[in-house]
Amino acid sequence: MPDAITIDLVSDTASRPTAGMRRAMAEAPVGDEQRGEDPTVNALNERVADLLGQEAAMFLPSGTMCNQVAIATHCRAGDEIIAAEGAHIDGAEGAGAAVFAGSFVRTIACSRGIFTADDVAAALRMRHAKVPRTRLVEIEQSNNHGGGSVWRRAEIVPVVEAARANGLALHMDGARLLNAVVASGEAASSTTALFDSVWLDLSKGLGCPVGGVLAGSRGFIAEADVWKHRFGGAMRQAGIIAAAGLYALDHHVERLAEDHDNAQRFATRIEQLPGIVLEAPVETNLVFFDVGGTGRNAGEIGDALLRQGIRLHVQSDRRIRAVTHLDITTADIDRAADALEKVLLAGY
Ligand SMILES: Cc1ncc(COP(=O)(O)O)c(C=O)c1O
Repeated sequence: MPDAITIDLVSDTASRPTAGMRRAMAEAPVGDEQRGEDPTVNALNERVADLLGQEAAMFLPSGTMCNQVAIATHCRAGDEIIAAEGAHIDGAEGAGAAVFAGSFVRTIACSRGIFTADDVAAALRMRHAKVPRTRLVEIEQSNNHGGGSVWRRAEIVPVVEAARANGLALHMDGARLLNAVVASGEAASSTTALFDSVWLDLSKGLGCPVGGVLAGSRGFIAEADVWKHRFGGAMRQAGIIAAAGLYALDHHVERLAEDHDNAQRFATRIEQLPGIVLEAPVETNLVFFDVGGTGRNAGEIGDALLRQGIRLHVQSDRRIRAVTHLDITTADIDRAADALEKVLLAGY
């Protein structure tokens, strides 16, 4: 975070590697990852495949690359991907599906980013030479733009069944998968094993500096490996960064509950402020709120807070997001809520 910012709620990507994580990185045994010879990367891949109930996994530099490698592996030119409105693959990956796979995302309007088997059925197209081929159903766990909402197993299973009944592949964007697991108490593999591809991000709530791990069947990962090389995602002594992932899986998963409590604490404070409306109930570490009713522009509010060293993510004239993570304490939350109150009530 820039020096002047002392409380960075812009994203969970703002978290910095801890001293313990840095030590684990420094001491990691390494080898040539591109040749499959890095023992730390191999250990991370096995650990994540096991956690997600999949046969194999591959370490990649980012979550975006996990999505794009998966899409390029599943889809061919002219294919269509079904996802919730606001999906990261639709609006935040530079139209990668179109650029790399010649495919496009068709979004489903739904509450909190969670759709149903009926929504999938309604989005299906007739099979005809002149009609795009629906190929893939994608869900985000947790759903970012839906407010960090958590797909429960009972919501996922019918969607999986609808996709399977229609010959569609399934992909899970798990940028904040372990936040969802901690919030729901449902084991990751109880849902992730149902998907053809699924990944989790290391550089968000888990606090690593870089990386994501994409998992699937052995056959899927072998195909995906071609795309990993095409994208330039194959690395060398990457064990140094994979070690951060192993460390995070040991030390930073259960503590995600603290981030969720802090997000809830922030939400409870700010929803009492005049003109502020929470967009969705807080389930994990994301808080989206609408400041339209304050009569102030979100950008102005964001700037006023920034002058006090507090950064939020201003997403439109009226929409703001706050994200908690391992560098945010309960005291930080109270300071941020106090500052927002002063900005609104005293016009700072
Ligand atoms: C839901 C979702 N998917 C994918 C990504 C991309 O992850 P990365 O920043 O690691 O490329 C993000 C990042 O914010 C995200 O929120």
